Amino acid sequence: MRVTIIGGSGFVGQHLTATLSVAGHASIRVLSRSPGRVFADARRALGVGLGAVETLGGIGALSAEEVAAARERAGRGEAVLRESVEIIEGDARDWNSVRAAVSGADAVVHAVGIIRETEGRSFRDTNIGITQTVIDAMRDVGAARLIYLGILGASDDESMPYGRSRFQAEGLVRESGPDWTIVKPSLVLGVSDAVSRRMVKLLRTGPVAVLPLPDGGRTLMQPMHVSDLTVVLSLCLTDAGRAGKAYEIGGPEHISLRDMARAFADQLGIRRVYNVPMPRFALNIGTAMLGRILKDPPITAAETSQLRVDNITTLDAVERDFGFSPRPFAAYVEYVKDVVP
Ligand SMILES: NC(=O)c1ccc[n+]([C@@H]2O[C@H](COP(=O)([O-])OP(=O)(O)OC[C@H]3O[C@@H](n4cnc5c(N)ncnc54)[C@H](OP(=O)(O)O)[C@@H]3O)[C@@H](O)[C@H]2O)c1
Repeated sequence: MRVTIIGGSGFVGQHLTATLSVAGHASIRVLSRSPGRVFADARRALGVGLGAVETLGGIGALSAEEVAAARERAGRGEAVLRESVEIIEGDARDWNSVRAAVSGADAVVHAVGIIRETEGRSFRDTNIGITQTVIDAMRDVGAARLIYLGILGASDDESMPYGRSRFQAEGLVRESGPDWTIVKPSLVLGVSDAVSRRMVKLLRTGPVAVLPLPDGGRTLMQPMHVSDLTVVLSLCLTDAGRAGKAYEIGGPEHISLRDMARAFADQLGIRRVYNVPMPRFALNIGTAMLGRILKDPPITAAETSQLRVDNITTLDAVERDFGFSPRPFAAYVEYVKDVVP
């Protein structure tokens, strides 16, 4: 199967690329503006990919021989990625780049999305515009199968600009034809994800950790490890019966942001953590000011608005729809020791 990944240098994109490569997909094409980052953490990504392959073997999606071959491939390191992955350097807002990337693909995974707007990069042109470009380019070259990585919490609520842009992008995918699948995860965690990096940065800022958590960090998340997400994406890619379906997914528990931060601090050996329960009105003013002063503020107004609602679905979502149990947070939280903020 020839698979194209739009956004293959990102956190999810890198791990999916490695998982497919270890699993033996010989033809993977990646569109990225940052080709140097696609193999940036190859050793770790291959380890995560092998974990996903073992899970696929456990549920019978791969045979024992295929899993054994995957172990051998993972052992060969970055060379495996270089043999199976073709990188196309380009911006996903550029028609020609996207068209070249999806040309000849049996399936396309669209894994580009931004939660922060920066100069020259808006929710409209990236989250919505790129989705439209991918759909149009696929239609132009006759590629039909699209796996879209959406978010839990996409909504038409005007006061949530990020979630709204994702809701609109999802609408484009649903109208694109019969052969789409939408995967909507809660928080996805791993050594290089943006939330863990920001959290660790805040926890390590001074002699005592001060966390300005919106509403006291009461918002519930349903974190899952990136390895389990790549299992879900692999199953969507290989099972045509999943066309026309949207899956809300998450890990096996609901955890508040405050409890997640506490668990991270414990792993990092930080004993004193002060949660500053920021009331919403103060946050609104604060994030607006920080956005003007800092290039990389700890939290933005769009992120704050998104945290008004819990980011959760049913606890058995993955088990029910994909036939395996994603790992609980406590089983992998140790990863945070390796996070470089
Ligand atoms: N991580 C999570 O917790 C989580 C949870 C739910 C859903 N998701 C969704 O999963 C998808 C991937 O998330 P992620 O965590 O992997 O994010 P990420 O690490 O920020 O990766 C996003 C990728 O998009 C690329 N990108 C952005 N603008 C681009 C453009 N104009 N042209 C080409 N590439 C562009 C980035 O490349 P550059 O490096 O070149 O900018 C990067 O490779 C997103 O849609 C996200 O919303 C993630």
